[in-house]
Amino acid sequence: MKFFIDTANLEQIKEAQDLGVLDGVTTNPSLMAKEGISGDENVINHYKAICAIVDGDVSAEVISTTYEEMIKEGEALAALDSKIVVKVPMIKDGVKAIKYFSKKGIKTNCTLVFTAGQALLAAKAGATYVSPFIGRLDDISTDGLALIEDIRLIYDNYQYPTQILAASVRHSAHILGCAKIGADVMTGPLSAMLALLKHPLTDSGLATFLADHAKAAGK
Ligand code: E4P
Repeated sequence: MKFFIDTANLEQIKEAQDLGVLDGVTTNPSLMAKEGISGDENVINHYKAICAIVDGDVSAEVISTTYEEMIKEGEALAALDSKIVVKVPMIKDGVKAIKYFSKKGIKTNCTLVFTAGQALLAAKAGATYVSPFIGRLDDISTDGLALIEDIRLIYDNYQYPTQILAASVRHSAHILGCAKIGADVMTGPLSAMLALLKHPLTDSGLATFLADHAKAAGK
């Protein structure tokens, strides 16, 4: 399963990249705003800075909502770097735009997906990735991982090449759940990735090994 980091914070992106397990980045307008990035030029420069850090795909979201505007904005974003994936919302014009980008060989990430039906449409339009938001479903007492299972079943039934990018991941249990189901990618915060490496027996075991080594060496 590929690991994407869901942030526009350059320090966190660098930290995940340095860890050696990062496969890409997802951003959205809220994450860009959280970093204080605004204005067309600053946003563009920030995407370029992210692309310079990571080896994999970088999702850049359009803020237009009509077909014509999404095409224009998406083509400009895609021209920035070959790593850019144009992130398009699951709305009627968005589906049309994904079809257009797909025909032109421009990678897309269909975002704000909350049902298997929406994921089916995204796959039929030729999306490279589909982003079901599992954390936001859990927030409204709906099983987010169950949606990943449904989409996996449907995509496997018809061998759709669209990759399931489990989004809105909040913690390490989400990551494990996605891996068990067979999501192609998960995107989440650095904290959820780092939580995977923690276990108290690892820490106490290491402390014992080091203490025994020091004792044997007469230190
Ligand atoms: C998807 O790509 C989104 O950026 C994201 O995962 C949203 O997550 P949130 O629910 O934590 O805002």
